[in-house]
Amino acid sequence: MEKIIINGGKSLKGEVIITGAKNAALGILPATVLAKDKFIIENIPDIQDIKNYISILKKMGAKIRKEGNKLRIDTTNIGGYTVEEICEESTKMRASYYLLGALLGRNGEVELPLPGGCDIGARPIDLHIKGFAALGGEIDLKGSIKIKANKLKGANIYMDMVSVGATINVMLASVKAEGLTVIENAAKEPHVVDIANFLNLMGADVKGAGTDVIKVRGVKELHGCEYSVVPDQITAGTYMIAAGVTKGNILVKNIIPKHLESISAKLKEMGIEVIEYDDAIRVIGTDDIKPCNVKTLPYPGFPTDLQQPMGVLMCFANGVSTIRESIFENRFRYVNELQKMGASIQVNANTAVFTGPCKLYAAQINATDLRAGAAMVLAGLAAEGTTQISELKHIDRGYENIEEIFKSLGADIKRVKN
Ligand code: UD1
Repeated sequence: MEKIIINGGKSLKGEVIITGAKNAALGILPATVLAKDKFIIENIPDIQDIKNYISILKKMGAKIRKEGNKLRIDTTNIGGYTVEEICEESTKMRASYYLLGALLGRNGEVELPLPGGCDIGARPIDLHIKGFAALGGEIDLKGSIKIKANKLKGANIYMDMVSVGATINVMLASVKAEGLTVIENAAKEPHVVDIANFLNLMGADVKGAGTDVIKVRGVKELHGCEYSVVPDQITAGTYMIAAGVTKGNILVKNIIPKHLESISAKLKEMGIEVIEYDDAIRVIGTDDIKPCNVKTLPYPGFPTDLQQPMGVLMCFANGVSTIRESIFENRFRYVNELQKMGASIQVNANTAVFTGPCKLYAAQINATDLRAGAAMVLAGLAAEGTTQISELKHIDRGYENIEEIFKSLGADIKRVKN
């Protein structure tokens, strides 16, 4: 078991270069199986979810070579696998479910284990299943997920809720279906657009990604391509908030500032200086943080994946701040950990109330899920004394070199084996 040890209280200064988005890369890797061809994908983050995906695809017969943040993938010989063989990796992350849409599109049938991922709510996949059924899939959910279609046919699919995963999965399943598929009330996240761009480069005909109506006209064949994954707006947002939490001065580089507008707006509202450049944002912290209210929403609203880091910042605001979590019902487990450090937070149903300013003191805390783990690192960076963070497996699923990056910004942080 490993731990991160932080001697907090240092103001962080310097530059961070952001790599590709986890949630885009985790849709692009399965999309490659829609063709029997070769791909070069750049700007792939070096994180555990990606390592697990590579392992699944290799077990399915793909040839994959990793060269730093670049992957060479050959999906020509994807073939037999058993559900048992890929169960361990599939159940460690949510995004394994994208192979449902992708393999259905490739073969007209698929069987996979149920997906895993962070324990932040019930996370049903009914919208994915409804989408596959509308395209002609026959579904069997006994033990595993089995889908078979004699012929995939385009359909009109209205999403009852805005779902990133269901939107991407239906796109994957429909790019080779016969005729037109219209996805209404689609998710508009940057990674939805990135995956649509990737599919179009493979020869697909996807229009409207980034709006709430996506139209997919089926094509017969797809082919390999070269692609570079969009920068990760969630890791970028985490480092922006780190500047606020440590009263530092951090330049976050290689990003698309438009994707971070909801974060920049909230930081500015809190009195934190945010300077936008073409492909970078500088954040300069302040001693006088103003309270604010956040409601998590689908893009372009404030992302649920950044509410936990934002919660840490709210602990230092002069007054009462609130977070209303409207996407996942169980995303406040990190509050207990912050309370151990002295934070004053009350949770009532889907709303957390942060009364500040408070001083955080070092404690032994756990990363309760991926983004909560990042929040714990931010709390440790700001706290007085030596904080120890356990359950790093969650953080490693989504953050590349987190302690090295914070060290380069001046933090006293290290990873130790227990
Ligand atoms: C994705 C992201 C995750 C992010 C989330 C919201 C990946 C791998 N994960 O998760 O980091 O926090 O988007 O931006 O990209 N829902 C249903 N039925 C379904 C599908 C979803 O009721 O079939 C509900 C969910 O429980 C949730 C809401 O819809 O309340 C949104 O979930 P969704 O956008 O699908 O999240 P994920 O794709 O799981």
